Amino acid sequence: MKHAFLAAFTLLGAVNSPAQTPAPTGPGAADPYRPAYHFTAPKNWLNDANGLIFSNGQYQLFYQYNPYSADPGHLSWGHATSPDLVRWTPQPVALTEYKNADGSNTMIFSGSAVADKDNTSGLFPKGQTDGLVAFYTGHVERPGVVLAQHQNLAFSLDHGRTWQRYAGNPVLDIGSKEFRDPKVFWYAPQQKWVMATVKADRQLVYLYESKNLKDWTFMSRWGQAGNTVREWECPDLFELPVPGGGTRWVLLISAGNPTEEFRGQQYFLGQFDGKAFTPDQAYDEPTYLDFGKDFFAGVTFNDAPGGRRILVGWTNNWAYARDVPTGPAWRGSFAVPRELSLRRTPQGLVLNQLPVPELRQRGKQALSVPKLTLKPGPAGYEVPFRGEAYEVELTLTPGTAKTVTLNVLQSEAECTALRYDVARQELTLDRTQSGNVGFNPLFASTVETVRVPLQNGQLQLRVLVDKSVVEVFAQNGEVTLTDLVFPRQHAGRLTLHADGGPAQVSGLRLTDLSAAARL
Ligand code: FRU
Repeated sequence: MKHAFLAAFTLLGAVNSPAQTPAPTGPGAADPYRPAYHFTAPKNWLNDANGLIFSNGQYQLFYQYNPYSADPGHLSWGHATSPDLVRWTPQPVALTEYKNADGSNTMIFSGSAVADKDNTSGLFPKGQTDGLVAFYTGHVERPGVVLAQHQNLAFSLDHGRTWQRYAGNPVLDIGSKEFRDPKVFWYAPQQKWVMATVKADRQLVYLYESKNLKDWTFMSRWGQAGNTVREWECPDLFELPVPGGGTRWVLLISAGNPTEEFRGQQYFLGQFDGKAFTPDQAYDEPTYLDFGKDFFAGVTFNDAPGGRRILVGWTNNWAYARDVPTGPAWRGSFAVPRELSLRRTPQGLVLNQLPVPELRQRGKQALSVPKLTLKPGPAGYEVPFRGEAYEVELTLTPGTAKTVTLNVLQSEAECTALRYDVARQELTLDRTQSGNVGFNPLFASTVETVRVPLQNGQLQLRVLVDKSVVEVFAQNGEVTLTDLVFPRQHAGRLTLHADGGPAQVSGLRLTDLSAAARL
């Protein structure tokens, strides 16, 4: 393939020549969709991240897990640990479903974990300062009938390896079948614990307080804003500094039960005074966290070192999650952990998201092209790199071009296209030609479009590509789009195209991440 234009570029390390099409060999060949650096369970089904906490020098990741198959069911908490949010060591299943005396079954739905440093719960031996307490929703059912959803706790004396369920469970039961996903955190100004839960079917967040993690008192509720069409799930509430001074509280909500127009997760900015959340604005319209179809149930770590606020989301969508063609061995992955901050923009304060820097540190720089001109026309520019597990970064100056397109996971008849429309200032992620899209009608037609204004005439992009996951971070993390894709061909090409006029590309950088997560 001829390059439309070859500017000065440096090749660092071994790069496949674009003339060769690497055959899908090696460990991924039999399992072509299993990501190389996005977390997956060793086998079986996975959905939401749970109990995220930094403890004992490790990031502890628990997650909704079916120990028996790659379909949702028998929900338990799987467990993995990592020193750096990139390399994860699988741990034994932490909490499993259980039978009740009346024959009903309780599944371990989503929740959170805290370190009870001062043993406020009295659940730990005298002197232990690193006991963990997990909060999960007990989802009680008989076949086909939900009986209850209530909040329960379990505690661990050994950094989350083994757990005991508290004998006094449930600790919070309001007689609802739609009451779930407790996020508990320490509220230092009032020396107390706070729990955010949702009354899912009413689109409300309920806030409770406790001194001992066992007795909970209702404080306030808020909601019915943003996306109120669907159930609210997986709340999170935390404070972030505002550049230039002050702070804001961020309320994350996942709005479940998709429709075709569905977007997974929204956020609200406001204040929290220890009792109630007060939003900055009316939020008649939702503010989405990610504009792809496949980012959901994202929640953040408690106690991350250095005050970092790190988000982990499930890269899937309940609309078709059961059908994604990765099974029968496994199904479900997590987005790369994202570092959150608030950023001032002409549109106001936004929640900024960037992949944690640890990821790139574990990658291998494979290509760096300081500058190139992209001539208009179908030939485009073929990036002299091939792969399916990497990060590509670049800055576009579209100039007089009408559209500029970056194709990834491209083969003869397939590609996942990221297109910028200059007049509309819109970024589109198009997976209609990405490969296998036929396993569910809701998956097939997905073209995601979001407005992303140029900044000083430029669009900065970072794209994480990993076999079946594509995460886009635009304008240094102001806008993100996450989509699943299932290529059937595996040439792993990358091409750039301009249409209507030439465009400039600068700082094109490829980081090979295929071995980044290896233990
Ligand atoms: C969100 C969710 C939660 C629930 C869990 C069950 O994806 O529906 O509300 O606790 O998944 O797996």
